[in-house]
Amino acid sequence: MCGIIGYIGDKPVAPLIIDGLKKMEYRGYDSAGIALLTENDFIVHRAQGKIKVLEKLIADEKLSMTIGVGHTRWATHGVPSEENAHPHRDDKNKIVVVQNGIIENFLELKDKLRKLGHEFSSQTDTEVIPHLIAEYFEGDLPSAVRKAIRELKGAFALVVASWEDQRLVAVREGPPMIVGRAENSRDGIGSGTIAASDIAAILEHTRSVYFLDDGEMAVLDEDSIELTDFDGNAIEKEITKITWNPIQAQKDGYQHFMQKEIFQQPESLRDTIIGRFDLEAGEIILDELAPIEKENYSNFNHVLLTACGTAWHACLVGKYLIEKFSDLRVEVDYGSELRYRDPKIDERTLFISISQSGETADTLAANRTAKEKGGTLVSICNVVGSTITRESDAVIYTRCGPEIGVASTKAFTAQLAVLVLLALNIGRVTGKISKDKCREILQELIEIPQLVRRVLKQDADLKEFSKHYRDKQDFLYLGRGINYPIALEGALKLKEISYIHAEGYPAGEMKHGPIALISSEMPIMTLVTQNNVYEKTLSNLMEVKARDGEVIAIADEGDERIGEVADHVFHVPKVSEVLSPILLTIPLQLFAYHVAVHLGCDVDQPRNLAKSVTVE
Ligand code: F6R
Repeated sequence: MCGIIGYIGDKPVAPLIIDGLKKMEYRGYDSAGIALLTENDFIVHRAQGKIKVLEKLIADEKLSMTIGVGHTRWATHGVPSEENAHPHRDDKNKIVVVQNGIIENFLELKDKLRKLGHEFSSQTDTEVIPHLIAEYFEGDLPSAVRKAIRELKGAFALVVASWEDQRLVAVREGPPMIVGRAENSRDGIGSGTIAASDIAAILEHTRSVYFLDDGEMAVLDEDSIELTDFDGNAIEKEITKITWNPIQAQKDGYQHFMQKEIFQQPESLRDTIIGRFDLEAGEIILDELAPIEKENYSNFNHVLLTACGTAWHACLVGKYLIEKFSDLRVEVDYGSELRYRDPKIDERTLFISISQSGETADTLAANRTAKEKGGTLVSICNVVGSTITRESDAVIYTRCGPEIGVASTKAFTAQLAVLVLLALNIGRVTGKISKDKCREILQELIEIPQLVRRVLKQDADLKEFSKHYRDKQDFLYLGRGINYPIALEGALKLKEISYIHAEGYPAGEMKHGPIALISSEMPIMTLVTQNNVYEKTLSNLMEVKARDGEVIAIADEGDERIGEVADHVFHVPKVSEVLSPILLTIPLQLFAYHVAVHLGCDVDQPRNLAKSVTVE
């Protein structure tokens, strides 16, 4: 899940590569590096740590070269260090490579290359690639790359360069790879061609791009891009126009991307739902589902939702919603688990896959398993053109704009909103719910962006309140029914950005074990809305209070009774049970964010994490 970039132009490319790497830093930040081509050599600089370390390292260098590649790393093979940082070269200094992915047979290849006299200087899987290409290189880079990649096993995206050839070759076999022609879009950029892992790195130079598919490569010259398959056959591809604004990828005055993204939720939720229903008719309009809706879902008897992390929590909410609005049997599984068991999937399975990035390797593998077994794949995704979307039978985009903060926030609430629409759609199409019921929920859904704005007004209170919890070692998050996955999500947010241990539990499970943990030192964050398990949740909280536990509750506005059991209460507007997860999520995001900031944590780039997990 590294970020890679290559640029070939008519002006010095070093600053453009550094700029592109910064835009992809969320993909990994263990080390960074750059290689520039002269007429008879490479100039390579690499540094452990974030891109600013590399930037400082090259600040006084005179780098006027017009061809180069760059890399920002999330370590998989080999510790974060300068020697393991990309770009990697062969020992004869012919070929330089940046890679995103994993070469599964690298040990075997290393062995073979060693026997041919190659010497290696890193612990990475990537280093075998330049050596292997160098073995085949006779002056024509594309043909050497083609021969070498036939021997690679795994999932990889590469940008390869050779000073002897003076072109770049971009390859995709798994992780994303986008190429485009720079359009003189900013003073000083000039013309040229560019390849990168991510649209964010390219956006400032061009809005017209090619998304390479698996098994495709691009040969980049200063003013041309030649697309071929791995056998060298030319391929025609459609140019995709990107409409994202570069401003969307900046912080807008917020201290962190995560904070900005939390506060964007009124707008992002509006964008997610807009145009997707007819209120008067009490109907959902998801044109995206047309290919699978035609048989009125009668061809399905089973729904299986899959995802990883935060998106998996959305799946759990989705199960609750689809069960409520249909007669379908619904299951949920982690992508990483499903891919290694023998799930019962067939042509009567509606397989729903949720992913912000659309590139998560485990989710992608689970999707492929489902497709192989005959399931119909509907994905709920944020990144247009991502791999998951291109392999799906239908895609419902969450439309919440780029999410840069590593901890997912606005993508999660957008996923919840899409799931409400999808479940209602299934309910309406199968006749399980009436137009009136659908209209009633839609009426509330329209108001959700506004209600989220109201909840966000508690930011200052939550900031002050959260100060008192920065020294805690452990937290328990409790919820029941549809709010249980939100307890899991609240706990995940706290642990991933503040490094405080937090666990989510269904409140009813307390007495079966976790109640033994209760003490005045472990605060309990509870989600208590006035639904069918309200009374039962209050009883669970009484049991906690009786054991000296400190209870913080997020409850409905107007709920007077909660004050009798909870030590602190934050309120959210009272809405239908199916919409409560969206509102309850907001105070939990703010709480986790402020605790992490009070602790001085790197909120946007928490340790050991990366935004897009494109490896197993
Ligand atoms: C947590 C978080 C991760 C992701 C997970 C799946 O805040 O962001 O748990 O939700 O890695 O990523 P996507 O949604 O891109 O498939």
